[in-house]
Amino acid sequence: MSILNVSSDFSRLVVQWQLCCGRHDLPWQNTRDPYRIWLSEVMLQQTQVTTVIAYFNRFIQQFPTVHHLARATESEVMRLWAGLGYYSRAKNLLACAQKICQDHGGFFPLKVSALIGLPGIGRSTAGAILSLSHFLAAPILDGNVRRVFARYFAIFGDTTSSKVQAQLWELAEALLPEDESVAAYNQGLMDLGAQVCTRRNPSCNICPLKVGCMARTEGLVDRLPEPKLKTIRKEEYYQVLLYRCQSKIWLQPRPVRGVWSGLWMAPMLKLSCAQNQPVVIHELTHRRYFLYPEWVVNQLPDSDSLGAWFDLDLKNAPGVPACLQKILHFVQVIK
Ligand code: ADE
Repeated sequence: MSILNVSSDFSRLVVQWQLCCGRHDLPWQNTRDPYRIWLSEVMLQQTQVTTVIAYFNRFIQQFPTVHHLARATESEVMRLWAGLGYYSRAKNLLACAQKICQDHGGFFPLKVSALIGLPGIGRSTAGAILSLSHFLAAPILDGNVRRVFARYFAIFGDTTSSKVQAQLWELAEALLPEDESVAAYNQGLMDLGAQVCTRRNPSCNICPLKVGCMARTEGLVDRLPEPKLKTIRKEEYYQVLLYRCQSKIWLQPRPVRGVWSGLWMAPMLKLSCAQNQPVVIHELTHRRYFLYPEWVVNQLPDSDSLGAWFDLDLKNAPGVPACLQKILHFVQVIK
């Protein structure tokens, strides 16, 4: 069978399934506003739908349009982003909004090639924005979609490697419907990956693609997609100084370059090795932090250290890494 036959069947089945069984009530759906779609796609790049919903709603409430966002300060954006992780996304978000207002009259460009020149927008995010907001034929390839393709076509290899990605993008282009059903199709692929073709225990019996799925017919569902080689994280050890004065805690802005820049954190002192003390382990993309929290009471931080006192419950604090909340819960439990 040629790819043309496969593609019309494949996309028709995905579209039909999306309309009857996919997701239709997420807060960034039922709109064709590219701003909302872009914001949701950036939040969803590395974060689960269930976590994103509340962040998305708060963000839209504070910045209802790209113009509102473009006028924001970085610390306002970081405050709303705090806890979502991958903070370069928040910085890119602001930079992108400013560029759209300055260079594009406040409108998102209508071409993939123009969109991927903007901060934080890759090919898949560009495809999602154009297909969901303007019904333009542009493919997507996020983690869920890579898994659906890898199984349907029985593709071996690390689906995030450039070699396999090139193959997947080619399939994604070839399978794409050319009409306005592209929005339901792309949404359907994401929904299938999230709800049916899940990494563990996929529901093959209810999958609309089960007849043509090569992983299923060849008994490879549990082996595909192949896992990525494990990333090796460098271990680092820090003492975290929790200066406390009554019900206040001392926080410092993180250095402009490096981990958590733009956020505020308790002072951290690098240690040369692991300690025999209660520890909070926090994983970043390339590092594993061993954090040894310590209360410091009745003692003030260095007078020349930049920082400020905030309520211990962090209610009025600026953006802090989720890890600080984790540490504060931890020390309350072990004290
Ligand atoms: N993940 C990425 N984009 C998404 C979307 N539009 N809906 C649900 N999950 C997603």
